[in-house]
Amino acid sequence: MSPSAVETHNLTRRFGAVTAVDALTLRIEQGEVFGLLGPNGSGKTTTIRMLCGLLEPSQGSALVAGIDVAVAPEQVKQRIGYMAQKVGLYEDLTVGENLDFYAGIYGFRRATARLAEVVAFLELAERLGQLAGQLSGGWKQRLALACALIHRPALLFLDEPTAGVDPAARRRFWHTIHDLAHAGTTVLVTTHYMDEAEQCARLAMMSRGHLIALGTPAEVAAQVGGRTLEDAFVILQERDER
Ligand SMILES: Nc1ncnc2c1ncn2[C@@H]1O[C@H](COP(=O)(O)OP(=O)(O)OP(=O)(O)O)[C@@H](O)[C@H]1O
Ligand SMILES: [Mg+2]
Repeated sequence: MSPSAVETHNLTRRFGAVTAVDALTLRIEQGEVFGLLGPNGSGKTTTIRMLCGLLEPSQGSALVAGIDVAVAPEQVKQRIGYMAQKVGLYEDLTVGENLDFYAGIYGFRRATARLAEVVAFLELAERLGQLAGQLSGGWKQRLALACALIHRPALLFLDEPTAGVDPAARRRFWHTIHDLAHAGTTVLVTTHYMDEAEQCARLAMMSRGHLIALGTPAEVAAQVGGRTLEDAFVILQERDER
């Protein structure tokens, strides 16, 4: 049996008196599109940052691509692509220069076949000379995804990748996510959009740092009597806060 893409056990992070992530135990399978839902401040970004090896857990453990993040964070970083909530693009560089920059970080030389492949996959060819800061929100997200994909990561962590992006661009972005998953990439994505949550193979709902539901969208909805996912989200959260 191949190992899970992500496996956490009692993963916990405290900031002073605040427990941002509280004993999170979950497993994400290879090639799965896994959604992380939760209200503002429920611990989604903190979870992703621990999985990326950017933030040390206060307690508990996480295996990413079979590697213990606490033991070998650098090995984990080579296998993952991370699109942060605040997109990390250089706005005064062009699209092409941003790609060159990220390629350099991962040890690829400029204009390699891999760069051309990523440019073609995200349909960026006609925009290579444009300043990143002048792109629309949807194109910025595509460029950020391209930058996160250059080193062919086995896992992608996407933190609200489509926030503020128009519906057509969101749909296009999700087509790309499904294409990547079909090719074997595991995708962990956070979102506040229920139509996006519906497209995930499985979901974890978080509230105040802990899990309040886990399963397919249908399973999660069934937990509250088969209502819509949005209703399930609100009801489960209210129950948790009571
Ligand atoms: N570096 C930090 N120092 C102190 N507190 C922090 C830090 N990072 C996060 N927190 C706190 O941890 C909790 C969880 O924050 P987190 O950013 O993980 O939530 P989130 O689910 O990603 O929210 P959002 O939907 O708004 O992005 C919040 O109470 C937040 O204020
Ligand atoms: Mg966040």
